[in-house]
Amino acid sequence: MKFQNALYPIFKSLAFKVDPEFAHELTLKAMKQLSPWVENVPTDPRFKLTSMGLSFKSPVGLAAGLDKNAEAIGFLSYLPFSFIEVGTVTPLQQKGNDKPRLFRYPEEESLRNCMGFNNNGMEKILHNIQNANRREKILGVNLGKNKVTPNEDAPKDYAVLYEKFAPHADYLVINVSSPNTPGLRDLLQDKGLKEIFAAVNARRIQFTRPLLVKVSPDMSEEELRSVVKLVKEYQLSGIIATNTTIMPERGQGGVSGKILFEKAKKTRSFLLKELKDSPEIELIGVGGFSSYEEIKDYWKEGGRLVQLYSAFVFQGPSLLFDIEKKLAADMDQMKAASFDEFLHSLRKS
Ligand SMILES: Cc1cc2nc3c(=O)[nH]c(=O)nc-3n(C[C@H](O)[C@H](O)[C@H](O)COP(=O)(O)O)c2cc1C
Repeated sequence: MKFQNALYPIFKSLAFKVDPEFAHELTLKAMKQLSPWVENVPTDPRFKLTSMGLSFKSPVGLAAGLDKNAEAIGFLSYLPFSFIEVGTVTPLQQKGNDKPRLFRYPEEESLRNCMGFNNNGMEKILHNIQNANRREKILGVNLGKNKVTPNEDAPKDYAVLYEKFAPHADYLVINVSSPNTPGLRDLLQDKGLKEIFAAVNARRIQFTRPLLVKVSPDMSEEELRSVVKLVKEYQLSGIIATNTTIMPERGQGGVSGKILFEKAKKTRSFLLKELKDSPEIELIGVGGFSSYEEIKDYWKEGGRLVQLYSAFVFQGPSLLFDIEKKLAADMDQMKAASFDEFLHSLRKS
């Protein structure tokens, strides 16, 4: 058994006994220390795919928010994630909301968080990125505005962040869909988004990197349609769907994991249809995935890249190895020599 698989159940049985955020901090510390012992498992070369002009070793990545400060890239790059998204990063360091702000629902393999973009700020995070060994894994940086920045000045925050990270990241994400910064989701409306895209695009002329926007599962079809329109107009590279969902009956913040799955799936299905005629725009699927079978359904529907967060917290690295094992078995059975061939056969079946 691989070292990281064997260790996870022991680690989880301890970590799940303590406060979730403390467990999270402990995990990040452990990750930093453990990198030298982790077994580097080569990825099946058939899993390769190209998207947004980038070459991914497999379709599975880590979602934003787990490594907010880009402290554990070294460890994470050993796991079967082909891409790692760090952040959300804001220009200035900020503490986030008061604790407790992270809650578990173990029976439902779900989490609720109201972290509020706690992070060390762009200068320190850039330093971490520059000093990390990412072993040819794709690195995304998720960008957010500071809480103290009024919404009318938000475009400036995103433009500054883009300029800072574009030379050091493979792709960038405009995040205006977190429910934990007051008024942030208002920026998902037409006017707010337009101003942000325009400000960032002005910097994109000097330094072009794939740029995506992350949307919320709580948006109406009309709102999603207007995001798609703007994504096309401003030539963004893709959309990430979805962030966490609000469920006031459970408390403040955003819910992720299995509870989110159906809502996120509905948003993704709608976007896949809207983007059908725009294959150059990638839809990265995230939100509630907890098994190979669910991801396979997303591939069948038209999706390609996916990200995980909550299911990785509950199931550990074995989930990633399980996905790879089942994908390899399906590719053998379909006699698919590449991931694109696999998708082709899957969508025909
Ligand atoms: C504790 C926690 C913190 C998160 N922080 C961020 C964040 O800073 N930026 C962001 O774009 N998404 C953040 N997310 C959302 C995830 O990236 C992801 O979109 C969401 O959890 C749904 O995926 P999942 O159901 O696989 O967890 C966070 C999620 C959790 C659970």
